[in-house]
Amino acid sequence: MTSRFDEIINRHGTHSMKWDRMEPIYGVPAQDGISMWVADMDFRPPQGVQTALDSMLTHGVYGYYGDDAGYRAAIGWWMQHRHGWQIAPEWIFTTHGLVNGTGMCVDAYTRPGDAVVLFTPVYHAFARVIAAAGREVRECPLALDDGRYEMDFDAYDALMTGSERMVILCSPHNPGGRVWTAEELRGVAEFARRHNLILVSDEIHHDLVMPGHRHTAMPLAAPDIADRLVMMTATTKTFNIAGSHSGNVIIPDADLRARFAARMQALGLSPNSFGLVMAEAAYTPEGAAWVDELCAYLDGNRQVFDAAVNAIPGLRSMPLEATYLAWVDFSGTGMDRAEFTRRVEQGARIAANHGPTFGTGGEGFLRFNLATPRAVVEQSAERLQQAFSDLQ
Ligand SMILES: Cc1ncc(COP(=O)(O)O)c(C=O)c1O
Repeated sequence: MTSRFDEIINRHGTHSMKWDRMEPIYGVPAQDGISMWVADMDFRPPQGVQTALDSMLTHGVYGYYGDDAGYRAAIGWWMQHRHGWQIAPEWIFTTHGLVNGTGMCVDAYTRPGDAVVLFTPVYHAFARVIAAAGREVRECPLALDDGRYEMDFDAYDALMTGSERMVILCSPHNPGGRVWTAEELRGVAEFARRHNLILVSDEIHHDLVMPGHRHTAMPLAAPDIADRLVMMTATTKTFNIAGSHSGNVIIPDADLRARFAARMQALGLSPNSFGLVMAEAAYTPEGAAWVDELCAYLDGNRQVFDAAVNAIPGLRSMPLEATYLAWVDFSGTGMDRAEFTRRVEQGARIAANHGPTFGTGGEGFLRFNLATPRAVVEQSAERLQQAFSDLQ
């Protein structure tokens, strides 16, 4: 049975970061390389998103955006309908994406010299933004238990120095694909309270959950920490519209909201109309059905990729509970990082993110983006088997 996601769409020459920057950054030839780094998908969004854009383009007047009631209602509907979390429209701030949202939180809730806690390895832009703002990154390394990430709060308590003001959680986790359980989320909330930290929960991957797993929104796991909670979500990752650069920072607490609003105003930030129109068109029942189909397809890709990779002696792909980002441990090969990376980039001609950019714990890993047609995943799996055939 074919799927709408099977279509191979040529993205070369479209200003695609993932495809057009692959050769300059990784040295993987554009001609026949496979791009599996940046976290966007090689798929079109649901038809409703395209239709909304078409209607904007046909109208052809691109003035300032006003009256965002429908946009806010759509976000409220999605949070309630898909995640069981009821929000008020005024809790929502729209930023230029969630890296921008992270930077805004760092700016609004911490001062230069303060430390921000990260559970590493984790999405690399967090540390980049924190360090660029003159704050310190306090790494709390995730523990590996039978090839799966776990948190160790006793160890983290011992790492705190008193200068920490904020913790950023990635939920579900990138990389490694953990869907944190409600109990683990309560552990994070208690940790935040024990150390008097603002808790920023980046839930951008919340819709991309594999069949059989269920994501819990932080405010549902720990309703009593609303006074220190900042939630971040977006349509961009779910519907593959990251170029629209918009994200939602949802803040239930009035005081935290006022502080965030003040920084937004001071910087003169207001959203781009294309992002708002696409987001409103995505958060619909049609969009929900598309996401269900997408997750089933990604699960199929994951199975194909993991079966091939785990058959190579010394390689282990972490079982993904969410996200389309396979996190592959090469340390069992006994090769140094330069050698396994060379085999992937020059042998298999695949661009994958380098593990160390995700912080402590990423050293022996590469991250592969599986959100691409099944045939491409199959080809990448074959190429990896070939590049490591001497281990078989
Ligand atoms: C956890 C996480 N947060 C944020 C982003 C990027 O957000 P944006 O494109 O909205 O800046 C990513 C992209 O991969 C991500 O994995």
